[in-house]
Amino acid sequence: YDAIRDFPEQWRRGRELARDFDPGFTVEGKDHLVVAGMGGSAIGGDLLRTLVADTARLPVTVVRHYQLPGFVTERSVVIASSYSGNTEETLAAFEEARARGATVVCVASGGELLRRARAEGLPYLQIPGGLQPRAALGYSFTALLTIAEHIGLVAPDEAAWNETQELLEQQSEVFGDPSGNDALELAEALQDRLPFIYSGTGLMEAVNLRWRCQIQENAKRLASGNVYPELNHNEIMGWEYPGPLHEMIGVIVLRDREDHPRVQQRMEVTRELISDRAGYWAEVQSQGESRLARMMSLVNLGDWVSLYLAVLLGVDPTPVPLIGQLKETLA
Ligand code: PA5
Repeated sequence: YDAIRDFPEQWRRGRELARDFDPGFTVEGKDHLVVAGMGGSAIGGDLLRTLVADTARLPVTVVRHYQLPGFVTERSVVIASSYSGNTEETLAAFEEARARGATVVCVASGGELLRRARAEGLPYLQIPGGLQPRAALGYSFTALLTIAEHIGLVAPDEAAWNETQELLEQQSEVFGDPSGNDALELAEALQDRLPFIYSGTGLMEAVNLRWRCQIQENAKRLASGNVYPELNHNEIMGWEYPGPLHEMIGVIVLRDREDHPRVQQRMEVTRELISDRAGYWAEVQSQGESRLARMMSLVNLGDWVSLYLAVLLGVDPTPVPLIGQLKETLA
């Protein structure tokens, strides 16, 4: 509860920390930016990629793997992002980026990644430790976006930063009131259901993934999801013959005013066609003016929903024992 309630403060601190960081290079002469990371340390990369899709001076790719794609060369920028600094896939991608001569920057709270960055004299941004990686998104994402500004990938937009800060603070007041709010209502509706998160392709795509990951890790409940227009070409058929399984599904549609006009129509037609086959169907609209604020308004709502869902299900949202066991077994 504290980590999510204090998210606006983390967002402010994260921005301040990153503001003073000098990566020591720009995008001049570069042809690609890659964010390499896993789980809670990769999602900030997806948020960056979708946020700057129309304005970035280079294409942005997120790699969740040991290996980097073939296009990574000495003309690439690779940001290795690992909250613990000890994630094996990210360390392997870091080594590959070094071997290919890419310009490498590290973002971590400590661990092996920072040790190697220091040893090799590479630029690194150390973010505060002591949190679950997914609960440190306010540090990891502000780090990535501010680095993107420093290197000239995108122009800084102070108005968007300020609007987002204010909006997050307002949301924290509203959603932090456990006596009743929209996040709690959504969690109650999902309590006995399997969440399916739908959204448009574009700004809400990474937000959609964040909702699913947060529900899975915080509430320890499976969650599925898909995006328009693609889901109209396959997944919709899965709703054809309603049965008891469908009643166990709770659909949340994440909507943004910039969703493509045909996607907006598709969302409405799809709702008319299939919403009564699901056990629950709700649509939530992003808030704010700037793309950053709108994106973060629904990231934050999803984080609160996952927290309340954990409480309703009687599980501790913080530890992730299966992830820990898996890492230990593979070590
Ligand atoms: O949220 C989590 O705990 C995981 O998804 C981790 O982020 C993931 O296992 C990668 O670890 P790290 O963020 O420390 O690199």
